Amino acid sequence: MECPVRRDVPLPPGTAEPYGTDTALAAPDEVAPPVDLAAAERFVRLHYAEVLGADPTERLAHVRAELERTGDYTHTPGELLWAARVAWRNADRCVGRTYWNGLRVRDLRHVDDLGQVAADTIEHARMSFNGGHIRPTMTVFAAAPPGRTGPRIVNEQLIRYAGDPRYRPLRQLATDLGWQWDGDRWAVLPLVLHSDRDGPRLAPVPADAVVEVSLEHPYFSWFTGLGLRWHALPIITDMRLEAGGKWYLVPFGGWYVETEIAARNLADPDRLDLLPEIAALLGLDRSQTWTDWRNAATVVLNQAVLWSFARDRIRISHHHAEAQRLLEHLSRESRAGRSWQENVDWSWVNLPSATPTPTYHRSFRHQPDLPLPRLVRFRPPETAPLLMPPQPRRPN
Ligand code: ARG
Repeated sequence: MECPVRRDVPLPPGTAEPYGTDTALAAPDEVAPPVDLAAAERFVRLHYAEVLGADPTERLAHVRAELERTGDYTHTPGELLWAARVAWRNADRCVGRTYWNGLRVRDLRHVDDLGQVAADTIEHARMSFNGGHIRPTMTVFAAAPPGRTGPRIVNEQLIRYAGDPRYRPLRQLATDLGWQWDGDRWAVLPLVLHSDRDGPRLAPVPADAVVEVSLEHPYFSWFTGLGLRWHALPIITDMRLEAGGKWYLVPFGGWYVETEIAARNLADPDRLDLLPEIAALLGLDRSQTWTDWRNAATVVLNQAVLWSFARDRIRISHHHAEAQRLLEHLSRESRAGRSWQENVDWSWVNLPSATPTPTYHRSFRHQPDLPLPRLVRFRPPETAPLLMPPQPRRPN
């Protein structure tokens, strides 16, 4: 699963980062390519070889016939489940892939209406939260019809705060579409959805679907006065699942690693930028390098996040533990004869904090374009086409 966001990688000149993704170029929309027979066949063969250990001839003939007849084909529920899990296993930027085989998949391939996509994405949060025993879950919506854009969610995640500077452009877009921000830093942004059939839509995220943890530190009573909080569930909403030549919109998520919140979201200078304030409250002199105030403040934030999630009995991981598990996962993959799974994007899996994690001193192989089921970030649409009235539906 897509994990911590890359730090300090400059974008090429002239490119924007409009909706909080790290994708370089903005595109008005993305049209699903015609379903490629070779990709479909490769997918079916892999599924048969890895899961069923059976002869795929019959299934292949079926897929070919359906493709010839309709220009598209339908994954079986087993194929879909496997595609979703393998896409997680293949997610080179995710440190938490150990759990890939336990991913739950909600098969909502019949849903392409934007209002229903919003409602089911919100329902995803409730189901995945599971009283704090968070279940890694992916919801699969309708595949984009070949040659068309399918339903899309513009937001990077289901739950994002309006006062987070990273989401200023999204906040602006939501406002242009009629959302009213009351100026509260912790206001949850509405979902912005889009499809070439239904145009842009806004959908508020109801407060009762957003579980939040108010942050306290067990040793520092002043910490409570900062009024900090974070949401319990990271649910990525701006990636598609590419499998066997088909593209699906797939909100997905699991639980947090504490550094994602404490060492990035709350700490980065272009995010909530809390390190100077916390260092000052710790009495550390920020004009002296020896105080190492940034690291000291980060550790205090890490502790507060871990402690507060534990207080509320909501699952969260520690960065050292998760890095160790990634190494174990990679050795398991090698033993299973899938050494190519050691495909890791070093700068993403190395979770930021004051102390190095076990993955830090290892180099990895990295092939970003492995042609297997994989997760791909939608390119952020530009504001202008989103604000245009929906186009009449083209005949299929
Ligand atoms: N780093 C992102 C955030 O802070 C979340 C990415 C997904 N992380 C995860 N543990 N599943 O919100």
